Amino acid sequence: MNESKVLSLAVLSLGVFLLVGCNTATPMVSETVTQPPIVSPDLIDTQTPVDTQVPTEMQVTVETQQPDSNVDYVSGGLLYDDWMKQLEVEPPAEDQPLWKTQTTNTRSGKDTWRCKECHGWDYKGLEGAYGSGSHLTGFKGVLDSVSMTEDELLAWMDGSENSEHNFSGYFQEAELTLIVNFLKYGLFDTAAYINADKSVSGGDGSNGKVLYDGLCAACHGEDGRMLNFGDEDEPEFVGTIAFDNPWEFWHKASFGHPASQMISVLKIGWSIQDIADVLTYSQTLPTE
Ligand code: HEC
Ligand code: HEC
Repeated sequence: MNESKVLSLAVLSLGVFLLVGCNTATPMVSETVTQPPIVSPDLIDTQTPVDTQVPTEMQVTVETQQPDSNVDYVSGGLLYDDWMKQLEVEPPAEDQPLWKTQTTNTRSGKDTWRCKECHGWDYKGLEGAYGSGSHLTGFKGVLDSVSMTEDELLAWMDGSENSEHNFSGYFQEAELTLIVNFLKYGLFDTAAYINADKSVSGGDGSNGKVLYDGLCAACHGEDGRMLNFGDEDEPEFVGTIAFDNPWEFWHKASFGHPASQMISVLKIGWSIQDIADVLTYSQTLPTE
């Protein structure tokens, strides 16, 4: 058994322990989410209206460990991905001030302002997938956010902790709250399912197919190739992302895609296991 498998198992058993532990010690908050899926008519083939695939109203129960069930920890995931796109604002003229403290990642401009570019799709920065390759910056991850208070996290976002890590000029107060909630409650350590070699353990592909066909296929097609995220020469489809960057896939599926009609499956009550199942299935879709 290799190290990453041992780690995955350890994380899994810890997860199970926490779930069981929390059930007895502190009762989890049960929250009913009623959310009509957002669907853009022009994205979908009119022959197959999406309301035949997705019930217009889904009644689902989400188990959370939050003290306040009204906390929106999902919307901030879109800001983490690309806040400039999501908020429809022009990227700042200069590179993010901390960018100059590294030399390994040679991108410039807009990319230097995306949380994911410095902290990774897996939220682990240097310790994760961005620990090598062209995205290497050497910057730390954000998984420790879970153990910080909301005030401490806000201090990271508004420059009080480090004046070069200041997003308050671009985010409204409500958006700062969304990103803080995402950091505190929305992060998930995907090592429980995704191995360092990008393979996925513990997902059920046949359940993934049912979920994929029932939701994702409406916009992405049954083979995931209806929308091309790349270009003609280098097409990128659902299968390509699932295979090449399962961490990005996990984040996009969980939280949605910025400034698009793609919904967050967490908002319609999918479980972590459901996301792992869809990822497992999506890795079997064509990559080109
Ligand atoms: C240009 C790279 C860069 C970008 C973009 C960036 N960060 Fe950071 N972030 C850092 C660095 C470097 C640190 C550590 C700074 C220090 O130790 O003073 C940090 C620290 C943090 C911390 C504290 C982590 C800890 O465990 O102490 C959080 C939380 C955080 N960033 C969240 C975010 C979020 C959310 C965004 C997007 C809105 C973001 N960061 C964008 C580079 C970046
Ligand atoms: C209502 C339509 C819709 C639904 C439903 C939907 N998506 Fe998307 N998805 C989009 C759009 C639009 C984009 C952005 C495409 C682009 O940037 O060209 C996108 C982007 C993506 C991307 C990332 C593209 C990139 O830029 O890297 C992935 C991965 C993805 N979707 C997977 C899924 C999965 C998995 C599901 C089901 C859980 C799903 N989508 C459901 C519309 C949808």
